[in-house]
Amino acid sequence: MESWSGAADGSTPLDIAPALNGLTMRVVVKTLFGTALSAEEMAEVGEHMGFILDNLLLEAATQALPAWLPLPHRARYRRALARFDEIVYRIIAQGRQAVAAAQQPENHLLAMLLDTVDEETGEGMTDKQLRDEVATLFLAGYETTSVALAWTFHFLTRQPDVMQKLQAELDDALAGRQPGFADLPKLPYTRMVLQEALRLRPPSAWLPRTALADDTIDGYAIPAGTQIASMTYFYQQHPDFWPDAERFDPERFAPEQSAGRHQFAWIPFGAGPRLCIGRDFALMEGTLALAMITQRYRLAGVAGDEPGQTLSGTLRPQGGVKVRLSSK
Ligand code: HEM
Repeated sequence: MESWSGAADGSTPLDIAPALNGLTMRVVVKTLFGTALSAEEMAEVGEHMGFILDNLLLEAATQALPAWLPLPHRARYRRALARFDEIVYRIIAQGRQAVAAAQQPENHLLAMLLDTVDEETGEGMTDKQLRDEVATLFLAGYETTSVALAWTFHFLTRQPDVMQKLQAELDDALAGRQPGFADLPKLPYTRMVLQEALRLRPPSAWLPRTALADDTIDGYAIPAGTQIASMTYFYQQHPDFWPDAERFDPERFAPEQSAGRHQFAWIPFGAGPRLCIGRDFALMEGTLALAMITQRYRLAGVAGDEPGQTLSGTLRPQGGVKVRLSSK
C-alpha cells in the first residue's frame, strides 16, 4: 500500500478507498492475467471502469436510441470502453506471448483460457471471446472486492472491541509473520469481520433478472419478460433472519450462531446457477488483505465521518472511507 506511506503518521485523515482500489486491481491483474500494469494505467483503468459501471444501466437503457442524440454520458462512455478494450487486448497479447515463450505452463486464469479448445471444432478462443472473458473478470472481480474492504474498514474503525479481537487473532495466529494461504484456517474471526461487512454493505446490493415465463411470487403476478430486481441488501438486513440487524457484529458468523440460518439470508455472492465464480477467491483475498493491513497499520475512524451509500454498479461509500492511519 505504497500510496499511504507519506501520510501514515495518523495526523491527517485520509481516504482509504483509492489505495484499496489499487491493491485489488493489482491482485486481479497479476493472479488472473499473470501481468502487471503501470501505476498510470491502473489509475486510467480504474477511472474508466468506474465510469462504465456508473453508467452501465443508463447505456443499456438508451443503446437503441439514434446515434445522433446528444446523450450526456454517451461520448465519454464509448471513449472509456474503447480505451479499456485497448488495455484488455494488450493484456491478452502479452498473455499469448508469455504462454508461447514459457518453459513451464503459466499458472493463471488467462493462460487456462488461452489453452481452452472447443471440443467440437478443435479451435481455441478468438481474441474477441477472450476480451469478453477478461473484461468480465476485470469488471466483476476488482471493484467488488475493493468496496468490500473499504466498508470493512469503515465498520472496523468504529468498533474498537472488534478491532481488538481481530488484532488478538492476528497476533496469536501469525506472531507478526505475513499470512499466506495455509494460514486461512487460523483466521476465522478475520473472515467473520469481512462476512459481516458483506452482510451490511453487499457490493452487489441488487441483482437484476428477467422472468422467462409467467410466475407468481408471494401472490404477485410476474408476467414473462418482466424485469425484476432481487434486493440482496434488504434480505441481509431482514429482522426475521438477523436480530438487531443494523448492528455490526461479526459473531453472527460463528458456527454456533450460523447453524440453521436460512440459506438465502446471506447472499453477497448471489445464489443458484449464477453464483459468483470468484467467491472463494474474493473471501481469500479479502481475509488476507484485511489481516495484512491490520497487522501493519494502526487504523482509527474520523469522528463525525459517516459516509453515505452510493448505489451504482456497486454499493460504494460516498466520498470514500476516511481513517487516521499510522504505521505500527
Ligand atoms: C467481494 C467480492 C465479490 C462480490 C461481492 C461478488 C458478487 C457477485 C454476485 C452477486 C454475482 C452474481 C450476479 C448475479 O446473480 O446476477 C457475481 C457473479 C460473478 N462474479 Fe463475483 N463477486 C466478487 C468477486 C469476484 C471476483 C474476485 C471474481 C473473479 C475472479 C468474480 C467473478 C464473477 C463472475 C465471472 C460472475 C458471473 C458468473 C455467472 O454469471 O455465471 N467475482 N459476483
